[in-house]
Amino acid sequence: MFREHRRRLLELLRSQEAACIVPSGGLKTRNADCEYRFRPISDFYYLTGFREPDSILVLLPEAAEQKAVLFLRERDAKAESWTGRRLGVERACKELGVDAAHAIGEFWDRLPELLVGHQRIVHRMGNDPDRDRLLTEMVSELQQAHRKSGKLTPTEWLDPEASLHELRLVKDEAEVAEMRRASWISAEAHIAAMQAVEPGRNESEIDALLDYTFRRNGSTGAAYNNIVAGGENACILHYIENDKALVDGELLLIDSGCEWNFYATDVTRTIPVSGRFSPEQKAIYELVLRAQKEAIELVRPGNTFVQIHDCAVEILVLGLIELGLLAGPLEKELQSEDYYRFYMHKTGHWLGLDVHECGSYYHAGTDRKFEPGMVATVEPGLYIAADDSTVEARWRGIGVRIEDDILVTAGGHEILSAAIPKEVDEVEAICQGKPPGMKAGERKAANEAT
Ligand code: GLY
Ligand code: MN
Ligand code: MN
Repeated sequence: MFREHRRRLLELLRSQEAACIVPSGGLKTRNADCEYRFRPISDFYYLTGFREPDSILVLLPEAAEQKAVLFLRERDAKAESWTGRRLGVERACKELGVDAAHAIGEFWDRLPELLVGHQRIVHRMGNDPDRDRLLTEMVSELQQAHRKSGKLTPTEWLDPEASLHELRLVKDEAEVAEMRRASWISAEAHIAAMQAVEPGRNESEIDALLDYTFRRNGSTGAAYNNIVAGGENACILHYIENDKALVDGELLLIDSGCEWNFYATDVTRTIPVSGRFSPEQKAIYELVLRAQKEAIELVRPGNTFVQIHDCAVEILVLGLIELGLLAGPLEKELQSEDYYRFYMHKTGHWLGLDVHECGSYYHAGTDRKFEPGMVATVEPGLYIAADDSTVEARWRGIGVRIEDDILVTAGGHEILSAAIPKEVDEVEAICQGKPPGMKAGERKAANEAT
């Protein structure tokens, strides 16, 4: 898969006469001498499958033979006995299929000559100002050195958006398989959370249960910080404190997705803590669910996120008018955007190695059209602030979001997260301790069959 990704990118780079420099990222301090667990930058992983920090891939379409050159950490018995095993320079070509491998310490000495013959350099600026400065200085020295040699040296920087990120946006079969596996584990985690929820438990327990379910199934963990938001906490879109008690009669919004081999899922379910929705909660929930299902129906080649969003907004606003939460009529509410206080985010985004996956939302001067292989989330929600005195008290503090991951196919779409229940009666039954439609073993077998 990674070799094929490099091959495709090299083809694009050739047409741009561009070399490409892709760093892995390095360790980040958490506190004092403790570091966060390392996770490679997605661009780097997409092209190498390599998981070690302090590495840089250089792709050189104009090179005669060594078109994929990896710089990485050297073997070091003492360091490895403290901080973990390293692949090392000697094994890199065989293990990763790159054409050449060198110690990361040789990067700045070797890079200038590697770049000769390329007109441009694809590199994302802004992530590491020190490296950016060294790169621009190095290129200017290279230009000077070759001013009279007649050899081509780089004169332009390109962002990866037009090449690498275009490739990442459209998933191949191997990537979809990774996302299916991640979706299956997300289903296990959300169902486990539904089974565990009850008044008196803490958001932190559900947070831990999600992480435990991800990791015990062999995944790299959560694709982003779990959002486990009881009651009015659900109105904070990216609530990650996850440390309050779950209260009888309230809802619990869980936005949590498994990451499998660094491929993300992004799923939200909103469930009743006591096992039963109140009439107001149910009205809001069913409205969001209807908007979500209708919007998902629009995911097919040729359509756009704008259509998805407009569809969801119209259904939500109509529903809010019917419930008496907006005055209406529809046209006036859409124009005034008064609904924004209940629905303040967009209805979806690209998904892949990053939860908010790269890839432009505009293309050739217009809204980006869906193509087979793209993966999008569809995630409408309604959030009624606890202190919103413009609505009756019975509505206040209700926050609902329902989010699924949708693969665009030639014939329309496939819901990758379809195994995670979202119908009111199914969700209530599982929260009340009744068995879900499929047993865990059956869900696993179904996942392995796809
Ligand atoms: N979990 C972040 C999002 O839904 O976009
Ligand atoms: Mn989400
Ligand atoms: Mn999302």
